[in-house]
Amino acid sequence: MGPPEHHQNKALKASLLLLATLEAQGFEDGEDWKGPLRLGKKKVDYLHFYFHNMFDAKNPPPLIVAEANITQSSPTLFGMVRVMDQPLTEGPILTSKMIGKAQGIFASMNFLFTKGKFNGSELTVVGRNLILNKVREMSVVGGNGVFRLARGYARLRTYSFNATNLNAIMEYHVTVIHY
Ligand SMILES: *[C@@H]1O[C@H](CO)[C@@H](O)[C@H](O)[C@H]1NC(C)=O
Ligand SMILES: *[C@@H]1O[C@H](CO)[C@@H](O)[C@H](O)[C@H]1NC(C)=O
Ligand SMILES: *[C@@H]1O[C@H](CO)[C@@H](O)[C@H](O)[C@H]1NC(C)=O
Repeated sequence: MGPPEHHQNKALKASLLLLATLEAQGFEDGEDWKGPLRLGKKKVDYLHFYFHNMFDAKNPPPLIVAEANITQSSPTLFGMVRVMDQPLTEGPILTSKMIGKAQGIFASMNFLFTKGKFNGSELTVVGRNLILNKVREMSVVGGNGVFRLARGYARLRTYSFNATNLNAIMEYHVTVIHY
């Protein structure tokens, strides 16, 4: 049994859209894409922001896309896969200046920055996030835009957690080496 037809149509539309976008950006056969890297000087940046994991968010909350048959009986919800598109802000409250978004699944995220000198650039952060540990460390494994070939690490802690609606705010300190 295949996926319902409207899902297939959706996937087809998404890939057509992607094709159209790539063409619009001049990514064509025969293009000389192996130009010099033109990296700047190696530098270290320190980023500080808050990540809002809002289960009662309207647009959209972290969505469950898959789970195992033991997930619901597991105290850690082992096997659950949630996708997210959640705000990153300068201060700890949701209404403070928004500087980007966290997109991905919980152990593998892209931080897309939408303000200042990092606007439009992304950092890819992966690792375990053991929420019971006071401070966790995740790895910066790469990026794009100004963060091409980035390396580094993120140290994060839970700034606040609401046991009723499970909303959590994480404070991130990211040390990133880039060019
Ligand atoms: C979960 O699925 C596995 C593999 O199909 C099966 O062996 C196991 O008995 C199932 N466990 C439960 C709790 O249903
Ligand atoms: C960020 O970049 C986008 C797209 O290039 C642009 O539309 C937007 O105005 C920029 N925002 C800031 C705050 O620089
Ligand atoms: C926690 O969430 C509940 C339910 O949404 C809300 O009523 C309560 O005010 C929240 N607590 C705090 C400290 O924000």
